[in-house]
Amino acid sequence: MSPKQFRKNTGCDFNFNTKYKKFKKNICNSPKGKLRFTLVEHHLEQTLPFLLKSSLKILDAGAGLGQFALKFARMGHKVIINDIADVLLKDVKETCSREKLNHNTVFNRQPLQQLLPGYRDKMDLVLLHAVLAWLHDPLAGLSSIAGCVKKNGYLSLLLYNKHALVIRNALSGNFSKILNDRLKGTGKTFTPPAPVYPQTVEKVIKQNNFKIISVKGIRIFYDYLEKTPANTGTSMADITKVENRFGLELPYIYMGRYVHYICKKI
Ligand SMILES: C[S@@+](CC[C@H](N)C(=O)[O-])C[C@H]1O[C@@H](n2cnc3c(N)ncnc32)[C@H](O)[C@@H]1O
Repeated sequence: MSPKQFRKNTGCDFNFNTKYKKFKKNICNSPKGKLRFTLVEHHLEQTLPFLLKSSLKILDAGAGLGQFALKFARMGHKVIINDIADVLLKDVKETCSREKLNHNTVFNRQPLQQLLPGYRDKMDLVLLHAVLAWLHDPLAGLSSIAGCVKKNGYLSLLLYNKHALVIRNALSGNFSKILNDRLKGTGKTFTPPAPVYPQTVEKVIKQNNFKIISVKGIRIFYDYLEKTPANTGTSMADITKVENRFGLELPYIYMGRYVHYICKKI
C-alpha cells in the first residue's frame, strides 16, 4: 500500500512508532501498566475459564507491545498480532523468536479496519485493548473489528473511559475544559485523541450482535491516589484486591480509567 493510500484508509489513527520508548517504559513496564494488565487478566480468566484449557484462534488488534498476545501464545493459543506500528511489532517479533513462539504467532501490519473481509467470522476471541480512542473514527473501527469474531466467539474490549477524564479534570480544577468538552489529547501525551463514553460504545456493541457478559472498571482508585502507594504504606497486593473487588460493582465500574467489556457474539 502506498503512503498516500495508507493515510486515506487510516484517517488520523495514531501510530505508536513515535511513542515506542515512552510507551514501553512509562506505560507497559510501569506499576500502573502492570496493574492494568493484572486486572484485565483476572477478569478474562474469571469470565472465560476455558481460555486456560482449549487452544483458540485469537486476534490482538492494535496489539502494541503485545502483552496479551504473548501471554496467549505462551499458553498455546494461535495468535494473530496486528498493529500499524512496525517498530512495536518488531519488538514483539524479537520476543517471539527469543521464546520460540513463532509457530503460535502470525504478524499483521495493517490498519485493523482492513482485516475484513479476510478475517470475517474467523476468530474465537478478538482483543481490542486501549485502541479505540486512538482511532479517527472509534465506533466505525469497533464495528469493523466486530466482524472478525465468529458466532459464539468473544470480544475483549478495553475502553479508555471518558468519564474518568471528566473526573480527573474536575479534581485538577479544569472546569472550563469539561464544560467545553476539551478532554481530548493532542497525541503528544498518552491522553488519547478520541475518548468515548461507555454508554456510546455499549450501543455499538449491541448493534453488532454482541451480548455483554461482564463489565469491569480498571484502575478505579489507583489513578486518583494523591500519594504514591509507597508513601501511603499500601502494598500493590492490597490495591489489586480492592480494585478486583469494586471493579465489578456499580457505581465504581464507570469510574475506572478503563472499562473492560467481555462480550459474546450471538
Ligand atoms: C494505546 S496502544 C494499546 C496497545 C495494546 N493493545 C495495549 O493494550 O497495551 C494503541 C495501539 O493501537 C495501534 N493502532 C492505532 N491505530 C491502529 C489501526 N488503525 N490499526 C491497528 N493498530 C492501530 C497503535 O499503533 C498502538 O500500538
